[in-house]
Amino acid sequence: MREKLPVLEKEAREALARAADAGALEAFRIAYLGKKGLITALMKGLGAVAPEERPLLGKLANELKQRITQAYEEKREAIAASAGGSERFVDVTLPGREPPCGHYHPISLVVEEVCQIFARMGYRVVKGPNVELDYYNFEALNIPRDHPARDMQDTFYVTDNVVLRTHTSPMQVRVMESQAPPVSVIAPGKVYRRDSDVTHTPMFHQVEGLLVDRDVTFGDLKGTLTTFVHQMFGSGTGLRFRPSFFPFTEPSAEVDIRCVICGGAGCRTCSQTGWLEILGSGMVDPNVYGFVGYDPEVYSGFAFGMGIERIAMLKYGIDDIQLFFRNDTRFLRQF
Ligand code: DAH
Repeated sequence: MREKLPVLEKEAREALARAADAGALEAFRIAYLGKKGLITALMKGLGAVAPEERPLLGKLANELKQRITQAYEEKREAIAASAGGSERFVDVTLPGREPPCGHYHPISLVVEEVCQIFARMGYRVVKGPNVELDYYNFEALNIPRDHPARDMQDTFYVTDNVVLRTHTSPMQVRVMESQAPPVSVIAPGKVYRRDSDVTHTPMFHQVEGLLVDRDVTFGDLKGTLTTFVHQMFGSGTGLRFRPSFFPFTEPSAEVDIRCVICGGAGCRTCSQTGWLEILGSGMVDPNVYGFVGYDPEVYSGFAFGMGIERIAMLKYGIDDIQLFFRNDTRFLRQF
């Protein structure tokens, strides 16, 4: 028996070397290592060996079985790897996997759209500080310290004279102070108020507009804002100018559009009125010209201001303002 071991091993190794694919390898396993295989038979044959030879032969047979089993495992891995290699072909006609791509926030999109509409009408885009002097936010806009309009604005005070701007209107004063007429600017940006519910957040966005020149009339204001509404909400959109009051404009008007949800029939969004308020406007108050050194006898102009979140909610049919700031990508991805 002892002489048979090297012969069996040589045969087994040659047979293994010939096995070129998974099928031939399995045939090899059955022939040598299977229940009725040659090596298994060898192990069984140990029972017939003389007792004094048994320990040594048993050891040699076991080692032989281990070597062949290991060689078999190595071959199996090699065949599996090469099969995987040739079957893993690349279909170059498949569309590539697109990497996730970031995009603009709906508020940025609406700010951009509003600014572009006015830019096409010749307005220049300007930006200014969020932390603002009381002087620009209130005083020079004809809102003195004791004015009741200050209470309406729920101001965040930094110091007695410094606030987080409550609106973009201070940009009117900053621009007029820095240049002579004619002026036509649009000023987008963040504003802050102590307020938070489904239609209010402590920080939100406004766009301010200002136009000053000789002979500017309320008719110019109406024409400009009508053009804006038609471009923003569609050319068929109805609108109305409703008398209002702001300390820095006289006369003042709020602009309503026909409810985009119900078309004017009356619904929850428009509180059954058929109209939605979208902005404040008016002819610049002569008192404001006094602060910037413009001559109200020579120049006249109009201003307007709108809340971007409100416009975005109406345009996209969103009923909770907080959605804009929760950073839920399932919401943001839709724009
Ligand atoms: N600043 C006002 C507000 O935040 C909006 C406004 C009204 C701006 C009339 C204007 C304007 O420029 O003329 O409520």
